[in-house]
Amino acid sequence: MSQSVTTQTEQGLYINPEALTAHLPELHYQNNTLHMEQVSITEVVKHYGTPCYVYSKQAILDVYQAYTDSFASLTHQICYAVKANSNLAVLGVLAQAGAGFDIVSRGELMRVLAAGGEATRVVFSGVGKTYSDIEYALNQGIGCFNVESISELTLINEVAAQLDKSAPISLRVNPDVDAKTHPYISTGLKDNKFGIAHEDALVVYQQAAKLSHIDIVGIDCHIGSQLTEVAPFVAALDKVIELVHSLRKAGIELRHIDLGGGLGVRYIDETPVSIDEFANALLPKLSELGLTVFFEPGRSIVANAGVLLTKVDVLKPTEHKNFAIVDAAMNDLIRPALYQAEMAVIPNVLPSNGINTESTEPWDIVGAICETGDFLAKDRLLSLSTGDILAITGAGAYGFTMSSNYNSRPRASEVMVADDRHQLIRKRETVEALYADEVLWQG
Ligand code: LLP
Repeated sequence: MSQSVTTQTEQGLYINPEALTAHLPELHYQNNTLHMEQVSITEVVKHYGTPCYVYSKQAILDVYQAYTDSFASLTHQICYAVKANSNLAVLGVLAQAGAGFDIVSRGELMRVLAAGGEATRVVFSGVGKTYSDIEYALNQGIGCFNVESISELTLINEVAAQLDKSAPISLRVNPDVDAKTHPYISTGLKDNKFGIAHEDALVVYQQAAKLSHIDIVGIDCHIGSQLTEVAPFVAALDKVIELVHSLRKAGIELRHIDLGGGLGVRYIDETPVSIDEFANALLPKLSELGLTVFFEPGRSIVANAGVLLTKVDVLKPTEHKNFAIVDAAMNDLIRPALYQAEMAVIPNVLPSNGINTESTEPWDIVGAICETGDFLAKDRLLSLSTGDILAITGAGAYGFTMSSNYNSRPRASEVMVADDRHQLIRKRETVEALYADEVLWQG
């Protein structure tokens, strides 16, 4: 029988590292030391120091493959959501595997192209596309704009006319479905800024059909992120399908339906639906439509392919709380501070006497930034010493991409491993680079 991952005691939460890694692809203990694929984390730290993000190439490819296998019975395109992890090496691995991409800025499109991705396999989401974003995307031959407002539609038509091109578009429909996730990452409710209200969509499509430089190719929706249940996806799909039928009646034929991203992952002991279960729930409805199906998964492809490695610099036990001050901070990984996200913290090296809840102390794992909100985890039962290396799991998505230079902290290095090889895929920033573009007042 498998061991339980967590034990909640009065002092705090104990996460059993071995039970946790049993659920994580490509992460395992070998001779008591954490390994990613065949590479020892100790080796990674020796080469690249900390803080450092490490990603498994195989783990990324396996999830991508699981999506394509699960939807193999339909013509489909997996457009990886670049915002989750936009390192060129990650994009390159996915581009080589045949992925398309979901982007939200000109910058992300430039990254995709630099990594060898094809513009025709890119969908461009986002509520605030500018003239120059649209111009650049059209010139590159973008696959589709996911349009979020009437004014955006008008602007795209205008830019396309200037360039004497036809712009492929989908409307991003807001189906008003509760994704049952954290409010900051819920996007499909009518209170959210995203998309065009479901009830207005038909009229907007009819307007779009009259525009000279617009080519209607699809319909799109994305209701939120870290969804653990399938029901909200099904509810959203039902609403989008209703619209597809109304559009057909109105003489507007689509080529694809895009269901966005959002599938959740297991960070500690969540039980999100698997990709297979997700596919099984959607496939019967999708196959009747006869349209190409697009998905825009981000987190589910990369979250559990990555860890953030950090070193314990200072142990500061106080009368009320024990603080372990580590060399990563909220600028490196903001998810705990921003979304109260609970992410697992596990030791690189397991103590030789074995660990259990009795040999541990409750620790808050905090950074060195001057903010009380600067924490990576709270009340975790761990057995810690100064100099220990800790791995924060699930950090492959929305980790590095959301990092900043707050407190003039250079951003972490990033490393990719494949089999027994490791490679630096982004070198640690230098402090000098942080102010290289700043100029002293010349007055
Ligand atoms: N498509 C669109 C239009 C999106 O806005 C998003 C994410 C995705 C796809 C990918 O969703 P995913 O498969 O990754 O759930 N920073 C937050 C997550 C923000 C998600 C924003 N949109 C976090 O760390 O939890």
